[in-house]
Amino acid sequence: MPKVLVVDDEESVRQMLKDVLENDGYKVLLSADGRDAIKKINEMTPEAVLLDIRMSETDGMAVLEIIRKTGNMVPIILMTAFGTTDMAIQAMQAGAFDYIIKPFNLDELVLTVRKAVSMQQLAAEVTALREELGQKTENARMIGQSGRIQAVYKDIGRVADRNVTVLIQGESGTGKELVAEAIHRSSSRRNKPFVKINCATIPENLLESELFGYEKGAFTGAERRKLGKFELAHEGTIFLDEIGEMSLSTQAKLLRLLQEKEFERVGGTETIKIDARILAATNKDLARLTKEGGFREDLYFRLNVVTIWVPPLRERADDIPGLASFFLQDYSREFNKQIIGFSAEAMMLLCQYDWPGNVRELKNICQRAVIMATGPVIMTEDLPFSIQAKNHGVEPQLNPGTTLKEIVSDVERQVILKTLQEHNWNRTAAAEALGLNRRSLYAKMKDFGLLR
Ligand SMILES: Nc1ncnc2c1ncn2[C@@H]1O[C@H](COP(=O)(O)OP(=O)(O)OP(=O)(O)O)[C@@H](O)[C@H]1O
Ligand SMILES: [Mg+2]
Repeated sequence: MPKVLVVDDEESVRQMLKDVLENDGYKVLLSADGRDAIKKINEMTPEAVLLDIRMSETDGMAVLEIIRKTGNMVPIILMTAFGTTDMAIQAMQAGAFDYIIKPFNLDELVLTVRKAVSMQQLAAEVTALREELGQKTENARMIGQSGRIQAVYKDIGRVADRNVTVLIQGESGTGKELVAEAIHRSSSRRNKPFVKINCATIPENLLESELFGYEKGAFTGAERRKLGKFELAHEGTIFLDEIGEMSLSTQAKLLRLLQEKEFERVGGTETIKIDARILAATNKDLARLTKEGGFREDLYFRLNVVTIWVPPLRERADDIPGLASFFLQDYSREFNKQIIGFSAEAMMLLCQYDWPGNVRELKNICQRAVIMATGPVIMTEDLPFSIQAKNHGVEPQLNPGTTLKEIVSDVERQVILKTLQEHNWNRTAAAEALGLNRRSLYAKMKDFGLLR
């Protein structure tokens, strides 16, 4: 029977986890503090460890570090009361197998333990867990606790120190640049340059000399030698943004650089060797672009060693309130306004909207709302009409022959119906959400045949 060690300073948590895991067929060992845990891990060699991060004596992170320092690769699952980007990246970097957030989702917990145990049993894969001991990482300022974004934090932690090329894909405004910065800051190159270049905004004929630099006299106007971004990024990281926009001829040069780690400046003969870690991002479907001939296949495979997908905001709606509140605070400070939050209706609209422009759009809307707000709370009126209208899910019926009055009346009926449904037909709540008094709502419901 595989053994699982549970380390938590709270008796009730230990007991609860013991019951759950015994039920799933494990022999469960318990430990109430870090020092005892280290002893038990070494002496009783459990297949997996569930470890609380916050404990009064030796805390979980320290236990993890000590265990890894001795070369013991037992899968350790960290448990934390709240997840932060910082903690997530650090935990994965310090060699945690995974981490879970309290309060627990027990199904997820059981699954994670199963995965950890089978990982440990497959001795071959154990080596894959061997991580360099990470030093402290700076906070990458990424907000979000949803499962989808936590997965991104984990990916960042896994790849940060591996010196591989990473391709970051995702829709516009999802946070790809932030991910690139987080990788750099979590890597051992963090104190070296992080150089960005946007392949979409630099005219094609200039991109090459921007990247590789040029020699004096390389072309008219080249009055002295100029170093390119690659040279500037030596020992650090270069971030090639919007790589899907790069021309095929520049792609060929980039490919050579990736293969041979060397290049020549434009108009030069000297071969320059560099050591720069390459990160690239695109909001295009690079696989498709490659198939269609717009992107070199060999380059695609080189860049695509690891791909991190940043999910669109509509697929992680859990993150909307946190992000919105963060941006609100930020802009309130910037514009010197005392804004404390969103009204419940305004927040509901934000959560229901489908965010085609992703986090960037949310950020812009928060900025606008802070500027527009006249009181301490952001109201629905402070949000753009697109969000107010779209989120009733109401489409005006513009059939030929219908009068404006009929269209408006139809929209009004749909909005009232939707709002009533959203409030479980509670008329007081619906009236409030619609800015009507109960009597007018009643009259309209009667007109529209909505009384039940
Ligand atoms: N998780 C997050 N936490 C805080 N801010 C975020 C987050 N994700 C994105 N942002 C902010 O949203 C804006 C857009 O992010 P970013 O520039 O990284 O997107 P992108 O994916 O590179 O978009 P594009 O493809 O259009 O270049 C930035 O201002 C960024 O700071
Ligand atoms: Mg970008």
